[in-house]
Amino acid sequence: MKKILVCDPLDPEAFEDLESITEFDVTLKPGMDEETLAKTIPGYHAAVVRSATKLRKSAVDAATDLELIVRAGIGLDNIDVDAAEAKGIKVKNTPAATTISVAEHTFGLMLAAVRQHGSANFSMKEHKWEKKKFKGTELYEKTLGIIGSGRIGCAVAERALAFGMKVMAFDIIPIKTALDIKQVSMEQLFTQSDVISFHLPFSESTKHMISDDAFSKMKDGVIIVNASRGGIVDEAALLRALKSGKVGAASLDVFEKEPPEDFELIDHPNVICTPHIGAAAKEGQKRAGFEVVKILKEQLI
Ligand code: MLT
Repeated sequence: MKKILVCDPLDPEAFEDLESITEFDVTLKPGMDEETLAKTIPGYHAAVVRSATKLRKSAVDAATDLELIVRAGIGLDNIDVDAAEAKGIKVKNTPAATTISVAEHTFGLMLAAVRQHGSANFSMKEHKWEKKKFKGTELYEKTLGIIGSGRIGCAVAERALAFGMKVMAFDIIPIKTALDIKQVSMEQLFTQSDVISFHLPFSESTKHMISDDAFSKMKDGVIIVNASRGGIVDEAALLRALKSGKVGAASLDVFEKEPPEDFELIDHPNVICTPHIGAAAKEGQKRAGFEVVKILKEQLI
């Protein structure tokens, strides 16, 4: 019997399905820090994580029987993939499961930025009626610049086109899509976009790819939306750009440090923020959960 360690809660129906598989002995143990995980992992054949559990080298080194790590979600930045693969442990994720969840959340963040939903909400909860204060702009006929044209980038583009936006995208590979997206250089995207949204993984090459120099090339009052990974946008530079008015508003679902320790950026009045919940829609989590079960069956039975 294969022993499966589920380190973060999965969708309840998917978890029930997993537990019903007679070839598997499933243990759910959420909330483990790196040290506890390293002590727990020996003897398990597979580990399942979402984003909370950090499966670092210490756990990989301690694993005795581990064949597979499955990430319910997209980003693999909480897993030491190199260490795992060097030990012959396969690492799989569920890249398509939460595309719509993240794309819809991104669009919500975009609307919140141009219509000041966050501040208007706070104002009304203070029992005010500041109708004149919350003047916004439309997205219609504005240019959206998408950095990263994978599944989520294209799903955001599709929604933007339905809103009558013009969409341009930057990617290091040719963009293959039937959607009306213009592939442009990073420079063109910076200078021509009214709204810029990021849809790419975090890595050493994408870390702080948006810093003072990039902001200086953007339109005055540009809207920044980030529901991908926090470190892609240099938060100190973003705060400077917000303070100078270069950035009109920033809608952020992701942060360099999660949960954040420094709240200066979050406290800026033109920042709309959510606590990394882009993928946290019921349907997306269900898809991810069942895909995890499928991967475990395919790989271990
Ligand atoms: C993902 O990478 O799947 C999403 O960002 C969700 C998450 O990490 O919480």
